[in-house]
Amino acid sequence: MSPAPERIRIFDTSLRDGEQSPGCSMDAAQKLRFALALAELGVDIVEAGFAASSDGDADGIARVARALRGTGTGVCSLARCRPGDIEASAKALEGAEAPRVHVFIATSPLHRQHKLGFSKAEVVDAAVRAVEHARRLVDDVEFSAEDAIRTEPEFLEEVFRAAAKAGARTLNVPDTVGYTTPAEIEALFRRLRAALPAEAILSAHCHDDLGLAVANSLAAIAGGARQVECTINGIGERAGNAALEELVMALQVRSDLWPYRTGIDTTRLVPTSRLLTRITGMAVQRNKAIVGANAFAHESGIHQHGMLKHRDTYEIMRPETVGWARSQMVLGRHSGRAAVNERLAYLGFSLDEAAAERLFARFKTLAEKKKEVFDADLEALVLGEDASAAGWQLTAFHLSTGAGQGEQPAAAIELRDPQGEGHFGRGSGDGPVHALFAALTEARGMHVDVESYAVHSVSSGEDAQGQASLRTRHHGEELTASATSTDILEASALAWLALAQRIARRPGHAVAPTRDTASSEVRA
Ligand code: KIV
Ligand code: ZN
Repeated sequence: MSPAPERIRIFDTSLRDGEQSPGCSMDAAQKLRFALALAELGVDIVEAGFAASSDGDADGIARVARALRGTGTGVCSLARCRPGDIEASAKALEGAEAPRVHVFIATSPLHRQHKLGFSKAEVVDAAVRAVEHARRLVDDVEFSAEDAIRTEPEFLEEVFRAAAKAGARTLNVPDTVGYTTPAEIEALFRRLRAALPAEAILSAHCHDDLGLAVANSLAAIAGGARQVECTINGIGERAGNAALEELVMALQVRSDLWPYRTGIDTTRLVPTSRLLTRITGMAVQRNKAIVGANAFAHESGIHQHGMLKHRDTYEIMRPETVGWARSQMVLGRHSGRAAVNERLAYLGFSLDEAAAERLFARFKTLAEKKKEVFDADLEALVLGEDASAAGWQLTAFHLSTGAGQGEQPAAAIELRDPQGEGHFGRGSGDGPVHALFAALTEARGMHVDVESYAVHSVSSGEDAQGQASLRTRHHGEELTASATSTDILEASALAWLALAQRIARRPGHAVAPTRDTASSEVRA
């Protein structure tokens, strides 16, 4: 019998490297929700944040640490080589079953000289002290040499040897600026593997500035890495990190080249990717590998012909393997509650009875308008349910584009507040969306400073549902909301309302008065 293939540990940093990038911030509750999904996906370690960066981050890590007990997934917090950072990490991880403190310091000449002002000896000294300190507080310590790729290889060996001796179990090699190539990183890992103690686990952390993060991570594995650091949908600083879904599927589909296994349940890849999109409002491009809407779509006649003859002609993996719909079973106006509920459960939603009933009514309305209701439609309906549960309801709206009459676009809105009282608002603007938001501002009695606005379709066909996503910054915190409808202007209004509700729920929130509510304070 041939021995079981070696295991590659999947270290997910969506909640740290990913979350710190523009458009991806999450609050503690959202982090918790996503961490549970990562555990269900089967990742080995979740890097839940950088405890010393804020109280909110420390709280988020602590909540994740407690929630992941008993799941088999470890929890990690990042720390600079400073006692305060290490202590904040260990404290946030107190409730964790398998806590890991991840200390890092930059090692490249550029960073030593311009960022730290440290000599080589000072870098080694800081790394050793930090690892020793962390080891006094937790058993499992990872050490990263930031900008390792642009570090002199002999110095990198020296730092890693010292960190391993001080007690670091995992030695991480970040390509912090996404500069390396597959051949170069493979050679570096071979060199490090030969030079460092066999019990030290080598790890790769590749950024995607040249679009090579996944290829470089795979090359690192070929050179001896047994942990890879990655994120769902490849989110992360600048161009992002190696995409977990691509890495895992490359390992699985090309096991002839990389004979390794991971603990990932690949059928959870698409639902996890979608959950991240729902939480952050950051959509993946349609042609994104594995999780993009077109990843398994065959449009051209030649491809469709080939697929009908034999799926392998144009399909290197089955969509079901990564969590796309098991079949093309389509829901429609004849479908009953059981079929809808079964589909919802498959898509990872659990609604209470009342919410399921409300959703079913909305499903029926949609099914009357739309011949076929796809998974994405259903998912969008649940999100609409979330938006309408925000308290304030959109009861009516009217828009005139002003086109041909030489007038500005204008909107009139009617809202119902949680007490059932109606509120009206009118507004005009440079375009219909601008007018719509002005009318909402008046009706809701609060101003939302929309920083970014995007609309994309989330299902197929001419009657596809559109998802509108909005982002704002509130007291330095980034807040997002999205909503869906077959009418993109309605989706935009619902997303605006959901965002207003999120702002109103922030502790101690006092709304900036609008022109017409000069002295009033509005609370949720
Ligand atoms: O990219 C990087 O260097 C990092 C380290 C902190 C691990 O994210
Ligand atoms: Zn990074």
